[in-house]
Amino acid sequence: MTDRYCVFGNPIAHSKSPMIHAAFAEQTGEDIDYTAIEAPLDDFAGAWRRFTAEGGRGANVTVPFKEQAFSLCDTLSERARRAGAVNTLLLGKDGLTYGDTTDGVGLVRDLEHHGVSLAGARILVLGAGGAVRGVLEPLLAAGPASVLVANRTAAKATALAADFQDLGAIQGSGFEAVTGQFDLVVNGTSASLAGELPPLPATLFAPGATAYDMMYGTEPTVFLRWASGLGAMPVDGLGMLVEQAAESFYQWRGKRPLTAPVRESLRRAL
Ligand code: ATR
Repeated sequence: MTDRYCVFGNPIAHSKSPMIHAAFAEQTGEDIDYTAIEAPLDDFAGAWRRFTAEGGRGANVTVPFKEQAFSLCDTLSERARRAGAVNTLLLGKDGLTYGDTTDGVGLVRDLEHHGVSLAGARILVLGAGGAVRGVLEPLLAAGPASVLVANRTAAKATALAADFQDLGAIQGSGFEAVTGQFDLVVNGTSASLAGELPPLPATLFAPGATAYDMMYGTEPTVFLRWASGLGAMPVDGLGMLVEQAAESFYQWRGKRPLTAPVRESLRRAL
């Protein structure tokens, strides 16, 4: 029987995950069925229960259910525990629900594919919400020289940095306190959605720096346009989307699909 997987979200109609996982399945010869399911806002656990009762083996989880998914897991990976959120659910043979988050490893892999070396890098991360919390553990594990988390609300950045203090050299601040130069600046705020740019000094990119926006779209975000103008290499979040999916696929099926062709076909379809 074909194994069933899905992505849960609300809304979910425009999710690219079914397309991505269909491509992975075809490439690896895995016989899976992957659909998009709109779960009710107040009963994510019920949606997961129904899905597994009908033969569901695993799921991706997106906005706004990552925290509810975290709460229902029987077992959590260390990176999911740190993130406080789960984007990958797996039903074990023992009937237990296992939760992981693959967003951070997705970001790190996409950076690697773009030739960005994180070891010894000075990293600035903009934002202190769920998206940023979800990527800090793998970023710190890659061995940067330092990570500064800067946020509109400074107190959230300092609190977030404190939660990850034991993993490396990480600090938090408001945007106004950002000084010095960085090899990598990651925009994890939702400012791009509003077409806004966080107030930052134009001197923050070191020579050869990379600017990464976790968002993507048909056009470069305002942050990426600004960064390109200052000489940084712009990278949007489309590759992160494909890489986090590949890591979920690996958790479920034990096979690693090639991501570059899938990223390229998604880019053409944007
Ligand atoms: P997500 O899950 O996408 O991280 P979130 O937890 O609501 O969503 O966090 C949104 C992040 O974007 C926050 O860091 C937020 O800053 P505040 O903590 O000060 O609210 C940031 N953000 C949203 N709109 C912004 C804007 N226009 N300029 C700068 N930062 C913005």
